[in-house]
Amino acid sequence: MAKRIVLCVAVVAMICGFSAVITIAAGSGPETVVFENKKADVTFKHHEHQAKFECAECHHTKADDGSQGPYVAGEEAKCASCHELGSMKDPIHVNCRGCHKEQDKKLASCGACHVK
Ligand code: HEC
Ligand code: HEC
Ligand code: HEC
Ligand code: HEC
Repeated sequence: MAKRIVLCVAVVAMICGFSAVITIAAGSGPETVVFENKKADVTFKHHEHQAKFECAECHHTKADDGSQGPYVAGEEAKCASCHELGSMKDPIHVNCRGCHKEQDKKLASCGACHVK
């Protein structure tokens, strides 16, 4: 009897586990994020980017010694909770614009993100 209950719980846990994986594939966190700023607001289509790139391309943690830690699922947080934003050299421009530049020069132009 006890064994059967354990088996049941294991099966339920497995099914939940699978559906959690499916949910992540369909899109995690906000669908879009709007970064308001003085230049011109930037609308970031989060789920569209997720369909093309790994979470770890953009998300990471902070290690105990203060350096950049690895990506840990479930610990994604606002960039501004660790980084100071608001300049051309801030981590948003390094991350977003850096990848855009590698993909296609047109995507790195200011107007690709800052839409008036
Ligand atoms: C191309 C970059 C990029 C990729 C890929 C990406 N994210 Fe994000 N994600 C962001 C940015 C930027 C934000 C907004 C952060 C902010 O508001 O400062 C965000 C926000 C989030 C948030 C909300 C965090 C909060 O506290 O507001 C979650 C949850 C999240 N992402 C999960 C994921 C997961 C899971 C994946 C992979 C399936 C993923 N993201 C892939 C860039 C990305
Ligand atoms: C939990 C804290 C934390 C969060 C949240 C975080 N980072 Fe970082 N990040 C760090 C640390 C620590 C470093 C390494 C030290 C440094 O460069 O500030 C780093 C480094 C970086 C770097 C390389 C340094 C540089 O400027 O060239 C980029 C790019 C970067 N982060 C982008 C992002 C983006 C984009 C987000 C939001 C999607 C984000 N980070 C969220 C802690 C964090
Ligand atoms: C790949 C997307 C992207 C591109 C390309 C890009 N930016 Fe940005 N920019 C952002 C995001 C997102 C923010 C808001 C977060 C921050 O301050 O970094 C921002 C913020 C800024 C700010 C800060 C404004 C304030 O409120 O302090 C300035 C200035 C700026 N960008 C100038 C530029 C210029 C100039 C270019 C072209 C050379 C450019 N950006 C290209 C995404 C981009
Ligand atoms: C790892 C690579 C990568 C990162 C990081 C990335 N992007 Fe992108 N982004 C792309 C690619 C590739 C496209 C083009 C997609 C397409 O044309 O279907 C794109 C498209 C866009 C577009 C639409 C541009 C247009 O003219 O159609 C915007 C806006 C944008 N990204 C903003 C951002 C912002 C803001 C960030 C950072 C928070 C960011 N991206 C991070 C790869 C990236």
